[in-house]
Amino acid sequence: MMKTKSFHFILFLLLSILLLSATLSLCHHDHDHNLRQCRERCEEKQKYQQKRCLRDCQEKYGGTGWESTEEERERSTHEYNSRWEEEQQEQQQNNPYFFDEDSFNDRFRTQEGYIRVSQRFSKKSKLLQGFDNYRFSFFEANPHTFVVPNHIDAEYILYVVKGKGTISLVNQENRETYSLERGDVLRIPAGTMLNVVNRDGKQKLQFAEFFQSISVPGKFRDYIGMGGQNPESYFNSFSGEVLQAAFNTPRDQIQRLFGQQKKGMIIKASEEQIKAISKHASESHQKRKGKSSGGPFKLLQKSPVHSNKYGKLIQVDGNDYNQLQDLDMSVTFTNITKGGMMAPFYNTKSSRFVMVVKGQGYFEMACPHISKTQQRGQRTQEQEETEQEGVHYQRISAQLRPRTAFVIPAGHPTTIIASNNENLQMVVYGINVRDNQKNFLAGKENVMNQISREAKELGFNVEATEVEEIFNNQKESFFLPGPQQQQQQQQKQQKGEDGVHHVPLSSIYDFAAF
Ligand SMILES: *[C@@H]1O[C@H](CO)[C@@H](O)[C@H](O)[C@H]1NC(C)=O
Repeated sequence: MMKTKSFHFILFLLLSILLLSATLSLCHHDHDHNLRQCRERCEEKQKYQQKRCLRDCQEKYGGTGWESTEEERERSTHEYNSRWEEEQQEQQQNNPYFFDEDSFNDRFRTQEGYIRVSQRFSKKSKLLQGFDNYRFSFFEANPHTFVVPNHIDAEYILYVVKGKGTISLVNQENRETYSLERGDVLRIPAGTMLNVVNRDGKQKLQFAEFFQSISVPGKFRDYIGMGGQNPESYFNSFSGEVLQAAFNTPRDQIQRLFGQQKKGMIIKASEEQIKAISKHASESHQKRKGKSSGGPFKLLQKSPVHSNKYGKLIQVDGNDYNQLQDLDMSVTFTNITKGGMMAPFYNTKSSRFVMVVKGQGYFEMACPHISKTQQRGQRTQEQEETEQEGVHYQRISAQLRPRTAFVIPAGHPTTIIASNNENLQMVVYGINVRDNQKNFLAGKENVMNQISREAKELGFNVEATEVEEIFNNQKESFFLPGPQQQQQQQQKQQKGEDGVHHVPLSSIYDFAAF
């Protein structure tokens, strides 16, 4: 009796499993179908649009995304059908300062994640050749994954955009293991052997990284010992007899060790393995008293340099985090509230490398190195220095979305505007930051107010009172209401004037003072 009962139960169980897997495979099939249809639609598009279209399909139906919602993706597919977007795209292709997704190449990619590195700055444009030793990189790893240990011939700073990780930094004399979470900044000295896991079971782990090469100009590479065929281990390039001697081990045993790994750079790990690796987080093991990095800097816990309802800027440099001192660099997190903008500014000597991690918006920059005809015309001539008399500024502009990046060279007046739908969040790496000044060109606090009345009058050839009125109209500083918000405010005011007599609050106070 008991036996038949349990037999029935097992039968029932088996049937349910069968049913479930059939449903799942149907769903899966549905997804595949959508992906195929989406791809077919791309083929009808113009050539230069196809690449992005295919990638959008992959993101929508293929299951990888960088902080973008369904709605956002719908919007972006829709938008880029329009003529306006085509023009934008043309302009972005000629924009030497802007790195769209196509300006990044996969360094490593598996089913479990990717490491993408920006193209060389000197290849992108002659105007960037002074920054050739720097590169942007985006990293993403799926839940419960492991990145094969490696070292890099570059100085390396990372910012944790999302997720929870564990990182171990290993050298001959010491091992440091740290937990990583959103907002952490960590400098990794060149050549440090490191090992990263995503210890979270649900969230992806994402970094926005910045590299400075130290040997071959503009180039850096990963050196992987613990590998095999994929990723390839550098041990495999030594000759058999040398390895045999070095390890004092028979050759076939050595061949087996360096021949097994075929899964790639970012691989799945079990929960137990992750736990074991993460167990020592925030410990450092030192054989001798060596230099310890002191671990990551918690940027989001620092008080902001500028903050109001239109945005927030938090920054760290060598004064707070001494690991940035010798690099003479800073790391900034900027969050522009939707509809807001950053007041136009320039940096006196620091150049800035901006990586967009969330939201949408655009930037505008005045550039004296490019003339109108050159920008439209042939790329070969584009940045040739034609030192004509006087100066002309070309407006450089690009639409910003996650996984794009741009460069703001020192001295260039720039502004960044968030879309009306989402806050725009960026990680900004600054170089040459010692004694740098950030000068704002509009807003209540701006550098123009430091200039004498007479100089303003002579400079603009307009009466000083008029100049001062305009430079004092803006009551906010650093972060301001953006173009659309500002228009809405003006419309509201005008409406007020059309209706009941509208007295601004300030003049009521003036009146009361008498
Ligand atoms: C960005 O700013 C918005 C609005 O001020 C805020 O709600 C959000 O939490 C901020 N995000 C971060 C990561 O600081």
